[in-house]
Amino acid sequence: MKKKSVSTKGKAVKSASKKLGFGLSSRAKRSRPQPINYMLSAVAANPGLISLAAGLVDYETLPTEHIAELVGEVMKTPKSSQLAMQYGSTEGLTQLRQALLEHLASLDDVAVDHWKADAGNIVVTNGSQQLLFILADVLVDPGDIVITAWPSYFVYTCVLESLGANVRCLEMDENGILPDSLEALLTDLEQAGQLPKVKIVYVTSYHQNPTGITLSADRRERMLEIVKKFSKHHRILLIEDAAYRELTFEGQAPPSIKKYDRDNKYVALLQTFSKPFAPGFKTGYGLLPSDLVEAVLNQKGNQDFGSANLCQHMLYAAISKGLYHKHVDVLRKNYKKKAHAMLDALNKHLGDFFPGKTHWTIPLGGLYVYLKLPKNIDTGVKGKLFKKALAEGVMYVPGEFCYGPDPARKIPNNMMRLTFGVAGIKEIQEGVARLAKAIKAVAAGK
Ligand SMILES: Cc1ncc(COP(=O)(O)O)c(C=O)c1O
Repeated sequence: MKKKSVSTKGKAVKSASKKLGFGLSSRAKRSRPQPINYMLSAVAANPGLISLAAGLVDYETLPTEHIAELVGEVMKTPKSSQLAMQYGSTEGLTQLRQALLEHLASLDDVAVDHWKADAGNIVVTNGSQQLLFILADVLVDPGDIVITAWPSYFVYTCVLESLGANVRCLEMDENGILPDSLEALLTDLEQAGQLPKVKIVYVTSYHQNPTGITLSADRRERMLEIVKKFSKHHRILLIEDAAYRELTFEGQAPPSIKKYDRDNKYVALLQTFSKPFAPGFKTGYGLLPSDLVEAVLNQKGNQDFGSANLCQHMLYAAISKGLYHKHVDVLRKNYKKKAHAMLDALNKHLGDFFPGKTHWTIPLGGLYVYLKLPKNIDTGVKGKLFKKALAEGVMYVPGEFCYGPDPARKIPNNMMRLTFGVAGIKEIQEGVARLAKAIKAVAAGK
């Protein structure tokens, strides 16, 4: 009798523990898997698949030949080796931050004292992604409003959702975000008494992910002026994500929005070594308004109290020995060729496919082309085309991933992001041919 009661109790505990979940935080519950995870695993599971999806950079032009030299430079003396192998500081290596400030000034063709800023305003992070996260974390409470483009960089949208932000989106044309749409939205929000909730305006100002579109020079200062005009309850932060800035391969890159923020009060300019050098360093950086630096460093201190010091020493060596700039030139030439291969292939295979209803962007740099198909062709992950394309051996990013959850807008399902980043020229040509075959089959009802 006694024995039976013990075993029943054991069973009860066992079945309750099966159902018992952890007490996840509300932030964890709001977080969802990044779409990119799904795509990376689909590539791994399908050898032979041509990925025009994942935003990886070109393998062939990774700076592998410089790595030994950079390690050699860092390890030149026992003292320099020890310094690089020790913990660094939360804000990042001092000489690297000074070099980055000079680098940003030279990209904008201004003197290093152009901004009310010094190396103390530069923060080095684990990729620019960490800084995007921390900036949102220090400014956004659940229910606060963050304004992004429509479409926008989907990893950042996931961050905003996890923080409980209310995402509102801005119209774009082939010259980037329409400043009038920012002004109109902020006016509406003010009239609705919501302006105090607006914390961030997020702009990918060069060769945007996912569209490849660059915000034209004439719109840049105006964006800043609008943000200033509506900074009535607190300053609204304009995050200028310039991850692809240095990969400009056609014409002259316009000045940054940050260039116009000489008092260094409204714009956080974020850049990275991932795209113009190597994502393996996973090192990014930002030029921040002075009164944001402390809040950002407090959070970064909680997360890691400093990014990988060895990487920072190597990157400083790359900049100071001129290898970084040389390498960026190599990348620009390479991506220009690959972008042209993609655009030529699109012309060849889809040039006469429903003209007027089919359209793709012409990037002046970066890694992406955005393709719009006739409205009846569903590019979504559950649609016919995505499966057909996988069966043909090619993958793209469905446009549906790239739109924030703006209650005022309906997500289009006939767009896709293509990248010429990771595939070689022959693969790009073959990938577009396969994609066009799948698109034509779906259009023909097959
Ligand atoms: C627009 C944009 N910003 C930021 C990032 C983050 O890159 P990382 O953290 O490697 O610097 C990416 C990566 O793809 C991106 O596309």
